[in-house]
Amino acid sequence: MTASKTSRGLRSRAWFDNPGNPDMTALYIERYLNYGLSLAELQSDRPIIGIAQTGSDLAPCNRHHLVLAQRVKEGIRDAGGIPIEFPIHPIQETGKRPTAGLDRNLAYLSLTELLFGYPIDGVVLTIGCDKTTPACLMAAATVNIPAIALSVGPMLNGWHKGERVGSGTIVWKARQMLAAGEIDYRGFVELVASSAPSTGFCNTMGTATTMNSLTEALGMSLPGSAAIPAPYRDRQECAWRTGQQIVELVQADRKPSDILTREAFINAIRVNSAIGGSTNAPIHLNAIARHIGVKLELEDWETYGRDVPLLVNLQPAGEYLGEDFYQAGGVPAVVGELLRKGLIERNALTVNGKTIGENCADAGSANEAVIRRFDDPLRRAAGLTVLRGNLFDSAVMKTSVISEDFRARYLSDPADPEAFEGRVVVFDGPEDYHSRIDDPSLGIDDRTLLVIRGTGPIGYPGGAEVVNMRPPAALIRAGIDALPCIGDGRQSGTSGSPSILNAAPEAAVGGGLAVLRTGDRVRVDLRRREVRLLASDEEIAQRRDELARNGGFAYPAAQTPWQEIHRDLTGQFDSGAVLEPAVKYQRIAQTAGLPRDSH
Ligand code: FES
Ligand code: MG
Repeated sequence: MTASKTSRGLRSRAWFDNPGNPDMTALYIERYLNYGLSLAELQSDRPIIGIAQTGSDLAPCNRHHLVLAQRVKEGIRDAGGIPIEFPIHPIQETGKRPTAGLDRNLAYLSLTELLFGYPIDGVVLTIGCDKTTPACLMAAATVNIPAIALSVGPMLNGWHKGERVGSGTIVWKARQMLAAGEIDYRGFVELVASSAPSTGFCNTMGTATTMNSLTEALGMSLPGSAAIPAPYRDRQECAWRTGQQIVELVQADRKPSDILTREAFINAIRVNSAIGGSTNAPIHLNAIARHIGVKLELEDWETYGRDVPLLVNLQPAGEYLGEDFYQAGGVPAVVGELLRKGLIERNALTVNGKTIGENCADAGSANEAVIRRFDDPLRRAAGLTVLRGNLFDSAVMKTSVISEDFRARYLSDPADPEAFEGRVVVFDGPEDYHSRIDDPSLGIDDRTLLVIRGTGPIGYPGGAEVVNMRPPAALIRAGIDALPCIGDGRQSGTSGSPSILNAAPEAAVGGGLAVLRTGDRVRVDLRRREVRLLASDEEIAQRRDELARNGGFAYPAAQTPWQEIHRDLTGQFDSGAVLEPAVKYQRIAQTAGLPRDSH
């Protein structure tokens, strides 16, 4: 490292090499010597690089990071840094009850504390499974030390009887097959398990592939890195290059705030439409933006993303899976296609010190069946639609997954092709839904709208991925495999349902869904971006009074201390569902000085 970099002062020097404070320096340094690091190393000008480890036996999607970390360390060493690997709160999307959504802010909180409170000059964020990515980026944003993300990569493609089987996505299909009597319990488990043949994150365009792709589009990981399948040798090489790059980031003092600009977020919004990204993306990107202090609103998703076509033919919107996406060119091929149409803010800086325009100008699709050309997309205008009305202030709908069949049934009235209305059946949470969905007395037919509430960030808590509800078994047997769904919860990114979700405010905090009743009629108008309960304002006000008199909308009590704390401090989905008191702490490595000494 050059002398000029040294004079800038690495923050780790305050711990390990502070002649003005010899007793504390000795106290800090002796424990990091006792496993083999030497005084010569710790008191050199070499930056200390943290590796925030999200993989563990509890978190199988990210577990391969335990292996990759070795190559990251070699890259860090080769570039002159000193790696220190440490665990962070694990988050496993499918295994964590009541929902991994509850843990994102907890992991954010603890990683923020680690990055600020230890001698770390830069950090490699090991991302992968759904919430691990936003949790890491949110913390890097708050602390604002040089940071680079390393994706663990998707699993290999899943196969069953010669067909591609996508993780997550197959669950929703297998559920219908089970309900229709086409498979039994064993067949169900086998079919679903065939979708997950190796280490890595979900091989579909679920929340994991989405958030890893958007991290690259934001400029926070190396170009071309998101799509490399976890077991491929290229993934190991990428880990090594990521280790080298973080040392350069520290030397250049290139921080998240230099990369996570509004232009970068707009790029990510557009890429999200082109890849057919998850409906969890707005929640997580809005959260990252709030922690870095960039103004980003739900409306921006519609303004910048709605008219961008769907180019990536991955399940659930399309046919292919993660290996195919990588071989077709991954994120750079998508960005390159958008760049050539002027849809990328080309001067946005990325972790390698180059702009996204420089990184991706020459990238293109190597397989146009998987990554389509802009002028021959899978669907036009594939972004999210933001809806509002008298039931909520905002909700989103992923228009890229509206099937032809769905369109023919609901959106084909020649007089008003973008609107439909129907009778609603309301469920209070997933337990209520599971116990009653097949009850014939509910009178569910192909014109019914299914509503689920009490499933938002406060009500559940964390926000359950339950809005995509299958129709009653009898309807599935009659060929109706999807009904319109509305809810204040989330939906798995692997689901292909065009549900109306993330409704805010949620029922638990007084949102309009709380006064909805089975038998009401609701109108959905996609052209006017509106969902309305067809009742007078007086009627709605009356119901609100009645609900208040009965003690408000009921939801289960917190079961753990964190659930209670989360409920007290977390906002709604439209503003990222962040810990609201955390937002005022920004760029703390620059604004808060160093933490005080420990003894
Ligand atoms: Fe972890 Fe999909 S469940 S990546
Ligand atoms: Mg999920």
